[in-house]
Amino acid sequence: MAKMRVETQYICSSCSASSYKWVGQCGTCGAWNSLRLAASRTGGIGQILASQSPQNLAEVRAEGNKRYQTGLTELDRVLGGGIVPGSVVLLGGEPGIGKSTLALQALGMLSSSHSTLYVSAEESLEQLALRYQRLGLASQDLQAVCDGQLENILSQLDTGEYRVLVVDSIQTLSTETSGSGPGSVGQVRECAERLVAEAKRRGIAFILIGHVTKEGGLAGPKTLEHLVDTVLYFEGDATSRYRLVRAWKNRFGSVNEVGVFAMTASGLKPVKNPSAIFLSGAKSLSSGTAVFASLDGSRPMLIEVQALVDQSPLGNPRRLSVGYEATRLNMLLAILHRHAGVNLLDQDVFVNIAGGLRVVETAADLAVAAALISSLADRPIARQMAFFGELGLSGEVRPVPRGEERAAESVKLGFNHLIAPAANKLASGPETADTTVTALTTVAELHTLVSGP
Ligand code: TYD
Ligand code: MG
Repeated sequence: MAKMRVETQYICSSCSASSYKWVGQCGTCGAWNSLRLAASRTGGIGQILASQSPQNLAEVRAEGNKRYQTGLTELDRVLGGGIVPGSVVLLGGEPGIGKSTLALQALGMLSSSHSTLYVSAEESLEQLALRYQRLGLASQDLQAVCDGQLENILSQLDTGEYRVLVVDSIQTLSTETSGSGPGSVGQVRECAERLVAEAKRRGIAFILIGHVTKEGGLAGPKTLEHLVDTVLYFEGDATSRYRLVRAWKNRFGSVNEVGVFAMTASGLKPVKNPSAIFLSGAKSLSSGTAVFASLDGSRPMLIEVQALVDQSPLGNPRRLSVGYEATRLNMLLAILHRHAGVNLLDQDVFVNIAGGLRVVETAADLAVAAALISSLADRPIARQMAFFGELGLSGEVRPVPRGEERAAESVKLGFNHLIAPAANKLASGPETADTTVTALTTVAELHTLVSGP
């Protein structure tokens, strides 16, 4: 008989890296004094499912097209057509953005056709019921329980009744078997691992709600992302009524698909025509603002990029960006300096994407660069201009996918002067009598266009 190894493991509470011996500084993220004792590993999903012997894949019965449709069209689309039985969806977002509302709505809709359970470890049943009535779901048949103990939730599964469960939230769950303290990375990860294993074993679908920290990672367990099948992130400004749900990872659908919702007095409502909602709609022209014609999954959307460039009092000027990757911003600054002679070395640089959105497409390069140039030159960009295109390290403007669709959407919304990569060959596209296309090949041309001769 194989000898059982009892292993002591330590988990870093800031990056979740594991180590077999305790050290003062985490070797992965460099944090000091962050290693905590973890329970001896159960081996996770692999171990639980490992009892099966190898099978011919062609003969394995897979119900590929079975999905639980929530009836919230935007959510179903982001999921790739609905929730797949036996799958685990992680729904992440900042506190107050609407995660519980969306999960409750989705589950409420599902409850008319499937047996569903809402597990809340954050709100009382009374609070949940109030919200449920407010959402107009009172006629459905949704079961709910308030519990934060993993073992109790697992025992609910033994009734064999439930098909879809929401766990709100994964960070407030705790388990008796974990060696690390409640709320710690080790616990959260262990709870998630066991829920994923149960989902696979029983063919039950889980929606796990996870809070995102200010830094943008799912608090502590960034590592949850690889455990689950689908990761959805909520984006948007808690002060604006529009919310975006983005598929960050999806084993059962395409990534970078987005769903758009509006928060109303009776919950989240899908927005069918979202292309213009994230524009600020400012009446007066101001420098440092450029409109980006984005294409997220299948949705063309116009997004406002704001930049502020200001003389820095610091020896080491600030580079801050919200909603846009900081490393990409630094790269753009270097390209602008080297290939267009735009010197921002002594300037503080701030970039913000309006509406609390996150821009991940490299096609936003031209718009971000244009906003920076416009702010530095203090020269507003003409109102009817929309930008898209990628910048290469040698200062070249590179083509981006589906230029025609971006152009068509822009023109539809009144942005009839397109600044686009020459290689996208737009001229033959949407050009009509009052549409202008400025085709660019280098960043220097963009500089001349925005800052003037
Ligand atoms: P909530 O789902 O509780 O956020 P999370 O679970 O992500 O922390 O929703 C938070 C906000 O949504 C709250 O500020 C109130 C607002 N809201 C509405 O505007 N209308 C509604 O019908 C509901 C239920 C909430
Ligand atoms: Mg909540």
